[in-house]
Amino acid sequence: MCGIVGFIGHKNAKDVVLNGLTRLEYRGYDSAGLSLYNQRYQIFDVYKDEGRVAKLVESTKHADFSTIGIGHTRWATHGKVNKENSHPHYSQTRRFIVVHNGVIENYQELKDQYLHNHVFQSETDTEVIAQLIETFSQTLHVENAITTTLKLLHGSYALLVLDSNDPEKIYAAKYKSPLILGVGSDGITIASDLMALVGYSSDYHALDDKTFIVARKDDVRLFNLDHQPLDLHLKKIELDDAVTTKGEYAHYMLKEIHEQPSVIRRILTNYYDKDIVQIKPEILSAIKDADRLYILAAGTSMHAGLIGKQLFEKLCEIPVEVHIASEFAYQKPLLSKKPLFILVTQSGETADLRACLVDLNERGFETLTITNVPTSTLAREATYSIELFAGPEIAVASTKAYVAQVSVLTILAYELSQKPFDLHTELSKAAISIENFLASENIREIVRHYLTRRNAFFIGRGLDYFIGLEAALKLKEISYIQTEGFAAGELKHGTIALIEDSTPVIALISDPKMSPNTRSNLKEVQARGAKTFKIVLESCKIEGDEVIIDDVYSLLTPLVMVVPTQLIAYYAALERAYDIDKPRNLAKSVTVE
Ligand code: AGP
Repeated sequence: MCGIVGFIGHKNAKDVVLNGLTRLEYRGYDSAGLSLYNQRYQIFDVYKDEGRVAKLVESTKHADFSTIGIGHTRWATHGKVNKENSHPHYSQTRRFIVVHNGVIENYQELKDQYLHNHVFQSETDTEVIAQLIETFSQTLHVENAITTTLKLLHGSYALLVLDSNDPEKIYAAKYKSPLILGVGSDGITIASDLMALVGYSSDYHALDDKTFIVARKDDVRLFNLDHQPLDLHLKKIELDDAVTTKGEYAHYMLKEIHEQPSVIRRILTNYYDKDIVQIKPEILSAIKDADRLYILAAGTSMHAGLIGKQLFEKLCEIPVEVHIASEFAYQKPLLSKKPLFILVTQSGETADLRACLVDLNERGFETLTITNVPTSTLAREATYSIELFAGPEIAVASTKAYVAQVSVLTILAYELSQKPFDLHTELSKAAISIENFLASENIREIVRHYLTRRNAFFIGRGLDYFIGLEAALKLKEISYIQTEGFAAGELKHGTIALIEDSTPVIALISDPKMSPNTRSNLKEVQARGAKTFKIVLESCKIEGDEVIIDDVYSLLTPLVMVVPTQLIAYYAALERAYDIDKPRNLAKSVTVE
């Protein structure tokens, strides 16, 4: 996690870096910091403190104009959330200033071996990097001092380094954590995510691992760690400001929930050209030829994977296993003879998933990444990759990426099936169903009435069970209500003991076959005092049901059933006045294992 931004060029670096950090705050928001060159005293000033970028904007209000600067927004890994542990960090004499995203696993060994006489200002792993560079710079040219340090680091890093003796350069390097280089007429920007480059760079280059950069105002050079030059491959930045701002919405999450119908339509436009699917034939063949698919993912993306399993198994009879990435990375199940691994990830940077991919690549397996970020590490390192087209998702709680993941998995499964329905029509109907629901929803009142306790349950059967898991994650993630998603029939095998007077139980009912069973499970919890309400599909509705959604094709129900649950989470957090887009302890892109 953590976001880093650096700028060197012809305008005030403070503005570029602070704007970039604001856009990257989704990556972590425990503390923020910035370093700018102070021409008068010929040193780099460092401003940093715990808290948000907004606080840093205030504290740097009177900073002098500087055409060079680096900044950081932190999600704490090593050391408490406080000023000392905030980035940037500096070396002993303050010659070198460093911001870092990633984790240096061997920092203690490095301290013991090379830095035993050094005084450290923080508890972070990052400070070791600054100290090592300074130590090596006593005998080596600065670029060699940096690459010598990089070669000693175990773990992951995206780094920006300033040298007070040469304030005309930013040094940067990357291993495992993302780093994007942006080039524009005003200068060079280097950041963790393309979003920080929008408005400042016209073109970008997504850096490969073990790349070392030396950036000056009008020129940038790329090397490997042995100092051999590498080529710059620039691509046009196609994002604009509108997609990175909240617009008329109070929160990114609400905006992103409302974007879901257009996400489905955008996916259809990008995946079909006059009914001809636009997926590389080799990707479809790789899926078809596999004797088993292994879907690997984390969190919400894993929940989308659970729906993907149902789609592949029901539509094309390919067996599928879904695994939590952090478990699969170190505890593999017995694999089939011809597996294909599908990595589902919004960010394309999730470290747990990367650990899986590195191992799968080493073992020569074919992999397919489905991601919202085509420039991401997981997109670049997999055998194949395809895009979600959800547009930037900024709220930490994932909503539209889930709908995009389920839509894209549906298209993949459909294209390998006997095509038992018209997918284009049915996905379009799902988009309309979501729109109709959003236009008339009354979720806020429901939340006020029902979600009055510290706990809650979602129950459902079949596909609704998997929606219940996602609904529970969303609710706990942003409202801090302890929530569980349960297979409705399983509750009576133990968990029903938790039902007390007024415990909220929300039933998801989209399959007419299973509706009577779920409804009788509701009666069981009502008899024990639960306060229940139902989210149902039109064709399952009976009198008294609270939330009704327009019917959609049976396999597409997750796309619409999930939406009310997203709003339940949203309004529960709003009622409690929590920070909806940046819930406590979390970050959007989880780049540590
Ligand atoms: C969802 O609301 C979460 N914030 C989280 O579970 C997320 O889905 C997970 O960390 C996986 O991220 P990815 O899709 O970027 O790999």
